[in-house]
Amino acid sequence: MSDTKLNGRLCSAASFVRQRAVLADIGTDHAYLPIFLASEGVIERAYATDINKGPLEKAKENISRAELGDKIECILTDGAEKLSDLGITDYTVCGMGGELIADIISRAPKLSSPEVRLILQPMSKQAHLRAYLLGAGFSIIAEAYSSDSGKDYVTLVAEYSGVCRFASEAECELPLSGTPLHGKDSMLRYYKTKSTSLHRALAGRQRGGDSSPEAASVAERIDAFITQIENFT
Ligand SMILES: C[S@@+](CC[C@H](N)C(=O)[O-])C[C@H]1O[C@@H](n2cnc3c(N)ncnc32)[C@H](O)[C@@H]1O
Repeated sequence: MSDTKLNGRLCSAASFVRQRAVLADIGTDHAYLPIFLASEGVIERAYATDINKGPLEKAKENISRAELGDKIECILTDGAEKLSDLGITDYTVCGMGGELIADIISRAPKLSSPEVRLILQPMSKQAHLRAYLLGAGFSIIAEAYSSDSGKDYVTLVAEYSGVCRFASEAECELPLSGTPLHGKDSMLRYYKTKSTSLHRALAGRQRGGDSSPEAASVAERIDAFITQIENFT
């Protein structure tokens, strides 16, 4: 049995993995996420993958300690490269930058299938990832906000619809209207932190004589979103 406890960030991602899923956890590192889901009986089986040998060794040790070697297989691979014909239904890609996550998806055409669910937890460049997903024909079916040790995180859940939509990165600084949102308190803190750093950057630019109307408009939209969340939900 496993005594793995997930932190809030990974717990949020885990909650979107479907019952009886065949999971690939790309960039698994310690394999906490597949170990938790397998020991809770949520998933049928999992592939814990990493591009680096060190993290995969750590994953193997943890899987063996949890006695889940029959449920979780480790694969050394870049992104989804060696994950063909394994019947994978759900992919988690957590704890990486949004650009790297978008790059991993863009190199894996098999992810563009309506049967597949992507659960993505970008540590940066969230707007880039949203814009990429929409342009590549994915719908963002939910966003969940979570907190860990005083930091707030977003998880994007996406499925392929085949409908491509252009959205600028500025537009994608916020969830698209109509997206189901989870974790109000973490979400408010997340956008308040973003607003504070944007306003600080804007003030710096203004002192340097650069008015940056696009950044000002993003800051304004984020502030309006915060007010809307505070007042109406
Ligand atoms: C910061 S760790 C995140 C670990 C875990 N997913 C989490 O969220 O706690 C990022 C992991 O991704 C792996 N990684 C980076 N680029 C990758 C790629 N292209 N394909 C697979 N794994 C990758 C790294 O080796 C590292 O173990």
